Amino acid sequence: MTADKIEDVAKRRGFFFPSSEIYGGMSGFYDYGHLGTLMKRKFESVWKRHFLSLSDNFYEIETSDIMPESVFVASGHLQNFVDPMVKCSRCGNTERADHVLEDVLKESFEGLTAKELTGIIKKHGIKCEKCKGQLEDVGILNMMFPVVVGTVKEAKAYLRPETAQGAYVNFSRAWEHLRRQLPLGLAIIGKAYRNEISPRNVLVRMREFTQAELQIFFDPDTIAVHEDFEAVKDCKLRLFPIGSRKANNVEETTCGELAKKLPKFYVYHLAKIQEFYLDVLKLPRDKFRFKELSEEERAFYNKYHWDIQVQMNAGWTEIGGLHYRTDHDLSGHAKVSKKDMSVNIEGRKFVPHVLEISMGVDRNVFALLELGYRQEKERDVFELPRLLAPFDAAVFPLVNRDGMQEKAQEIKKTLEKAKFTVFYDDSGSIGRRYRRMDEVGVPLCITIDSETLGGGTVTLRDRDSMKQVHVAVSELAEQVDMFLHGARVEDVGEVVKKSKAE
Ligand code: GAP
Repeated sequence: MTADKIEDVAKRRGFFFPSSEIYGGMSGFYDYGHLGTLMKRKFESVWKRHFLSLSDNFYEIETSDIMPESVFVASGHLQNFVDPMVKCSRCGNTERADHVLEDVLKESFEGLTAKELTGIIKKHGIKCEKCKGQLEDVGILNMMFPVVVGTVKEAKAYLRPETAQGAYVNFSRAWEHLRRQLPLGLAIIGKAYRNEISPRNVLVRMREFTQAELQIFFDPDTIAVHEDFEAVKDCKLRLFPIGSRKANNVEETTCGELAKKLPKFYVYHLAKIQEFYLDVLKLPRDKFRFKELSEEERAFYNKYHWDIQVQMNAGWTEIGGLHYRTDHDLSGHAKVSKKDMSVNIEGRKFVPHVLEISMGVDRNVFALLELGYRQEKERDVFELPRLLAPFDAAVFPLVNRDGMQEKAQEIKKTLEKAKFTVFYDDSGSIGRRYRRMDEVGVPLCITIDSETLGGGTVTLRDRDSMKQVHVAVSELAEQVDMFLHGARVEDVGEVVKKSKAE
C-alpha cells in the first residue's frame, strides 16, 4: 500500500486533503476534514492524558507561533537549522541533497556537510530525477519562515520551527508561578513551520504541521536516577542501537540493562513512550522501535537522541524522539536575553537541563492510518487504535419502525452523556452500515432491535473480528468503555452464535 493510496482514501472519506485545493493546493500544506479532525483531537487528548500524568508538576501551556529573531539566535536555529539543497542546472528543480542520494543509493546520508554530499553526487554521477540534467553543487538553506511584523521592513521574526522554544522563553515565569520544584514539565501542542525543500510522503514531511512536545526541566545532578525507575526496570524496550545497524536487528533490552549505558532519567522516559504506543494505542509490538542516532545524525542541540520509529510501507519512519538537550536552550536564552535562567534550590544555583519528548501529531495520525488500513475481500477497513477512531461507536436501529429509531437516538444520547463520541445511521441495510463504519475505522457498532425495546439487550459488533455479542442496555456504557480500553468483544457480552446481519 503506497502513501498515495492512503492519501486518496483519506481524501475521499474526509480525513484530510490538500489545503487551498480549489486553487491547485500548495505542496506541504494539508487541511483536515471532519473525521481527520476528530482523530487528531483524540490523539492530542490521549497524548496529554498519558504524558501529563507522569508527574504532578507537569502542565500544559500555549505560546505564540511567531517569535522574534533573538529567540532563534539564542536557540541556534538561525545558524544551524539548515538543510542541504541541490538544484538542477537544466530544469531548476530543487531537492534535499541527502534525500536524492538516499533514493538512488538506498542508504542514509543525514548529517553530511554540503561538500561531502557534492562529492558523493559527483562520484556516482547522479543526475536530476526529473530531467536527467546536471546537478549543481550542494548549497545550504535555512528552513525557518521569516515574517514581517507590523511596519518593520526587514524580517525580525520567524514562524517557530518547533513548539519547544515557547516553553524555554517562559521557563522563569512558570518557575515563579508554579511550585519552584524540579522536575517541571511544560507541554505545548501547537503548530510548527518549516520551509521544507522537498515536502514528501503526504503528512510525513509538511511545511505547516502540529507538534506535541513536553519539555522536562530537571536538575542535571539527578540524571542518574528516577524515583519510579523500579516500576519500569524489567520492561523490555525495543531498541535499534547504532551497533545493530549492520545486522539490521531490533534488540529487546530491559530498562535495567540499558541503564548501565544511559542515565536512568532518560531510560525511564523511553519506557513511558513505549508504553504510550504499545499499551495505550496498542500498536503491534513488531512495528515499533527506538533508533539511536549517531553524533552526525543528532539534532544540533542534543546530547542523547533516540528516534521513535514505526514500520510503515516506505520503511522505518521517525514519528518522534526523546532528546536530552542539556542546558543548550536555557543557557542560550540567558546569554542573548541577559536574563538569569538559573534556579536556586537550597542554596545551590544552576541552570536546569531539559529532556524533551517530541512528537509530530500529523505524522502519527498518518502512520496510524497507514498501519491500520486493510483491503479485505468483502470490505475496506481502518483498524485504528480504538481510542483514536473518529467515533467511539455507531448506533443503528435494525429497522426504521416500531419505535427503534427513537430508542436508538435515546441510547446515542445516553452514551454521549457518558462522554463517548457516537454516530447515528439508519439508512441502508445493516450490512452496508457496518461496511461504512469499517471504512472510517469506527471500532464498535451497536444495533437496536426488538430485544432492546423490551428493555433487554443490544448487539455489539467488533470492527476487527466482526464478532457480535449481546449486552444488557443497563451495562452498555461500562462495557463500551472496557472495549475501547482494550477488552476483547467476547469479554464484554454474550457471544451471538451466528451473525444475521453480516
Ligand atoms: N523540538 C524538537 C524537534 O522539533 P524534530 O525531530 O525536528 O524535533 C519532532 O521534530 C517531530 O516533529 C518529528 O519526529 C516529526 O514527527 C515531526 N516533524 C518534524 N518535521 C516535520 C514535517 N516537516 N512534517 C511533519 N512532521 C514533522
